[in-house]
Amino acid sequence: MSTQKRILSGMRSTNPRLHIGNYEGALRPWLKLQEDHKMYCMVADWHALTELQDEPQDVRKNALEVAKDFVAAGIDPSRSSVFIQSDVKEHAELSLLLGMITGVGKLERNPTYKDKTSDVTSETMISYGLLGYPVLQSADILLYKPSGVPVGKDQAPHLELTREIARSFNAKFGDVFPEFVNVIDQDESRSKVPGLDMRKMSKSYDNCIYLSDTPEQTAKRIKSAFTTPSKIAKSDPGIPEGCSVCQYLKLYSPDWEKQWDEDRRGERGCSQSKNELTELINEYFRPMRERRAALSDDDILDILKKGSDEAREFAAATMDEVRRAMRLV
Ligand code: TRP
Repeated sequence: MSTQKRILSGMRSTNPRLHIGNYEGALRPWLKLQEDHKMYCMVADWHALTELQDEPQDVRKNALEVAKDFVAAGIDPSRSSVFIQSDVKEHAELSLLLGMITGVGKLERNPTYKDKTSDVTSETMISYGLLGYPVLQSADILLYKPSGVPVGKDQAPHLELTREIARSFNAKFGDVFPEFVNVIDQDESRSKVPGLDMRKMSKSYDNCIYLSDTPEQTAKRIKSAFTTPSKIAKSDPGIPEGCSVCQYLKLYSPDWEKQWDEDRRGERGCSQSKNELTELINEYFRPMRERRAALSDDDILDILKKGSDEAREFAAATMDEVRRAMRLV
């Protein structure tokens, strides 16, 4: 087994397609990490079920699409293990066992849980799975004894809970789980990509640019992007800080400072900015889109088979230790 330091990270497959916010905030940092770590890149399909809508979801199909986006973005399956959570049943077993040493009060105080349940009425069913979300996430992480977990700020409470669960396990049953660090993206300015309407980029707001969009779809989406409302004519001054197109130029254009100045001074129109941005984004994501188009269903199934075999091998060894420590065997 490799002696490289391990990193585990995951993404929920609530949406079948990843957007450029997912890419900049999560996938791009993984690409750097895979250069000198053994990466386990997990599609968290069970986590996607914690918010089961009335309609059944295409859980498997969505997970396969997300895995394709991982590989298209540059996760190298010959180095990193790409796998789907539900293909490695050890996650369920460890989650169940960790649940035995996790207080319900702690889970009820978890900010994500409080957020998701704050506006529910008494008729709405809050699932046991939603309450236990961080326990399953702890199992995801601890199975791989990683040195670090790369996640955004919103996940920090989950990582803290994972640490508390690990410490409490180690104190009760003996040292099984080593400490890990939160791996923070060095390039934090890229990690918050606004949506086309300047709200958070989210499928539910219909304000995303997707990795798998065609250049034409990208052009169409950018055409409708939010710009400075008071800038109607080219000569009207713009406010780049509040304009989504200018925000993206900052990310993708080497000349953004000049473009912002021109926008402020009324020396460039929004449609010019939109056209330039469309070119830049299409160029930036072209290699990923080409890789995605070349990836067949069989290719991704092979990649996931290899990835889940590798993940299972490590996870099974950890589970042996856990069962022994808990005197289940
Ligand atoms: N909760 C994470 C999110 O919503 C997804 C996730 C599941 C995860 N398991 C994980 C992230 C383990 C890091 C490690 O983005």
